[in-house]
Amino acid sequence: MCGIFGVTGTAKTAADNVFAGLKNLEYRGYDSWGVALRDTEGIQITKQVGKISEGTMEGSDAYEAVGHSRWATHGGVTLDNSHPHRVGGVVVVHNGIFENYLSYKTKLEDEIDFKSETDSEVIAALLHIEIQNGSSPQEALTHVSSLIEGRFAILVMFDSMPGIWAVRRGSPLILGRGGEQTYIASDIPAFLEMTNVVNYLDDNQMAYLHGVEVDFWDLLTGEEIEKRNIEVEWDIESADKGEHPHFMIKEILEQKETIARAINQDKEQIDAFTTALKKAGGIYIIGCGTAHKAAMATEYFFAQIAGKKVNVVAASEVESFKTFIRPNTALVCISQSGETADIMEVVEYAESVDATVLSITNVASSSLARASTVALPVKVGPEKAVASTKATTGQITIGFLLAHAYADTFTKGLGILLGAAANINDMINPRYEEHIESVAKKFKDTENLFIIGRASLYPIALEAAIKIQEVSYIHAQGFAAGELKHGPIALIEEGTPCIVLGDDQETISNATELKSRGAVIIGISTTEQPVFDHWLRVPDAELAQPLVSIIPIQILSYHFALLRGHDPDMPRNLAKSVTVK
Ligand code: M6R
Repeated sequence: MCGIFGVTGTAKTAADNVFAGLKNLEYRGYDSWGVALRDTEGIQITKQVGKISEGTMEGSDAYEAVGHSRWATHGGVTLDNSHPHRVGGVVVVHNGIFENYLSYKTKLEDEIDFKSETDSEVIAALLHIEIQNGSSPQEALTHVSSLIEGRFAILVMFDSMPGIWAVRRGSPLILGRGGEQTYIASDIPAFLEMTNVVNYLDDNQMAYLHGVEVDFWDLLTGEEIEKRNIEVEWDIESADKGEHPHFMIKEILEQKETIARAINQDKEQIDAFTTALKKAGGIYIIGCGTAHKAAMATEYFFAQIAGKKVNVVAASEVESFKTFIRPNTALVCISQSGETADIMEVVEYAESVDATVLSITNVASSSLARASTVALPVKVGPEKAVASTKATTGQITIGFLLAHAYADTFTKGLGILLGAAANINDMINPRYEEHIESVAKKFKDTENLFIIGRASLYPIALEAAIKIQEVSYIHAQGFAAGELKHGPIALIEEGTPCIVLGDDQETISNATELKSRGAVIIGISTTEQPVFDHWLRVPDAELAQPLVSIIPIQILSYHFALLRGHDPDMPRNLAKSVTVK
């Protein structure tokens, strides 16, 4: 959460570049933003509440700048709470959480006139005191970092010397190299238009950017370290909305091609992944939110296709199961961003007990991918809308492929997926979208919406609920089709819309039970059924049915958001990459 971006160099475009590049990180947080720039007059700070894409900033001759796009954690959405924070001669932007900040804030309250409610300002205060006591920036940062409990990435400017200092523990920071400027950001898209040559800052490392030079140190030993320049493959165009009004619809439509890209995995990597799974004493698949639902679908695939029981746990719930993660455990992490804090914490634990970390992630350069023994790339290109769509189907695709690889039926799995991808290509067309929009119009004002699915469509019912909730703010809930009658059916009233996934006999019986109590049924299935009031057709994808069934719901959610006047790309209270616990 929170995008941070810094630029140093010889060109006097640092602030303009930070302002422009931060817009590409807006999906990390869009409550408020701010930029600190250094020109011949010193460091000046501009802050605004609201989205940076709607903000303005005056031109300047700055040769250094740091910026921040905020997702509020400590303190509300106010100008005072927005970054950068200045205390004395120190200016800080921060991503992450300083968990024990209050104990330091209380101690410093007589000495420092705190302006904000944030944990971040306390970092600036601690650094200021260190500098006042005669420490160098490097010493101050080393000491203050050792006081912080929690995951963080910070960029710091000191009045006393040019350059930008950066420290990372748990939250990403990547440097962009080349040309007359050097960049440092929480995500590559911030500087992708300028360079694709990067250095990764790892945990407990510090960097000092001065001009186009960068020095690196290990924070724990104080030793200088060398970094290798790495060229990353990112496609600028796919990080752009193009002709579409929103990233969400662009990314939904891209599934015509992205599923085929996800299918196209390196067979040696698949084999290495499967060998690690077969060797393991136990398999845990973890993820958060939508990725957790992809993990659940994968659990069904392994059971149905490979006759193998795997354990699926939401990453934030792993604590209770930690004792089962042992040296012979294979931990499979599913994550679009590869930076989600709840996942990275489990990864760190798994590493500490020598368990094998495997991953399925869309960002090949992410912390998760770099921590994995085998990292399968989802390959769907940058996903910018907060609501995950093309990454979800990419993850489900790979889960399905892995189950087949585990069952030694890889070629058969490949055939099913290729057929599904071709059918999805035919299914997504303007008429299909118009039909779904017409259904969205009928139910746009509903307060409640329920979704049911059986077997591998149960995780899709849960995912459907997330999709509808996060962009339309309608109260949507997913259930296992057979579970509804054990309680939730009491919620059904005359006219309550219920989405029914699938057309097997038992699910249709459940749909009939709902309809008898007044529900209006929207069926998503391969065949039209008499119980359906509305029908969204999906192709038959055999056991890969979850893959095709989620797409009409993504389109429906998008239209709900528009019809209800919401921005589907940046829903309230959310951020794309959740790097705080
Ligand atoms: O980057 P990740 O896949 O690890 O993110 C996990 C969740 O935060 C994410 O899937 C979230 O649930 C999405 N907003 C859902 O659309």
